[in-house]
Amino acid sequence: MPVNNTFRIGVLGSGKGSNFVAMADAVAAGKIPAQMALVLSDIESAGILAHAHERNLPAQFIPPGQFRTKLDDDAEDAFVSALQNARVDLIVLAGFMRVLKGNFLRAFEGRIVNIHPSLLPSFPGLEAWKQALAHGVKVTGCTVHFVDAGVDAGAIIAQQTVPVRDDDTPESLHQRIHAAEHELYPRCVAALARKEISVSGRRVIWKTHPD
Ligand code: GRF
Repeated sequence: MPVNNTFRIGVLGSGKGSNFVAMADAVAAGKIPAQMALVLSDIESAGILAHAHERNLPAQFIPPGQFRTKLDDDAEDAFVSALQNARVDLIVLAGFMRVLKGNFLRAFEGRIVNIHPSLLPSFPGLEAWKQALAHGVKVTGCTVHFVDAGVDAGAIIAQQTVPVRDDDTPESLHQRIHAAEHELYPRCVAALARKEISVSGRRVIWKTHPD
């Protein structure tokens, strides 16, 4: 990893961590001028932590507390402190299955991004690829967006389309969306690290076009 790249990324994930792997590979390959400063998970057995350990990247499980869909106050404080101590410039949500609330959002305002497996604002929430298939859309995709207090609602940084095929199953569609995510997310984070992105209300402006 290049030592002079000081933009520091913190990653939060609850699952297998394939987006984290794509991101870490892009950092290691010099495609993102940044350093993976910290990986955090609310699930002790999450694949994302194992992937981080394999890569010798700082990674930690923090118990989420009593709630199912959000962090409790102590857990929120623990996540915020860990990320502040790691001096992260950007927080990348990569399959983190809890909604982030007030204190967390205030601590890192404008510095949290997420990837969602649909073309927002269509199909926010859980299992967006299943929602898209059930609705019968012919094109879906993935969206990288800033995180605000809404669910999958913040300003859109970039989107990538994925066609829906007549013979798609939820699994086959999800797999193609995942592949698109692994391209799109590192490109967006690279642009953020290079300060090539500015925000004007809901509009995110790229100094260089994402494609
Ligand atoms: C991705 O599909 C992403 O869109 C959603 O959570 C999933 C995470 O997958 N937010 P992985 O853990 O990165 O494989």
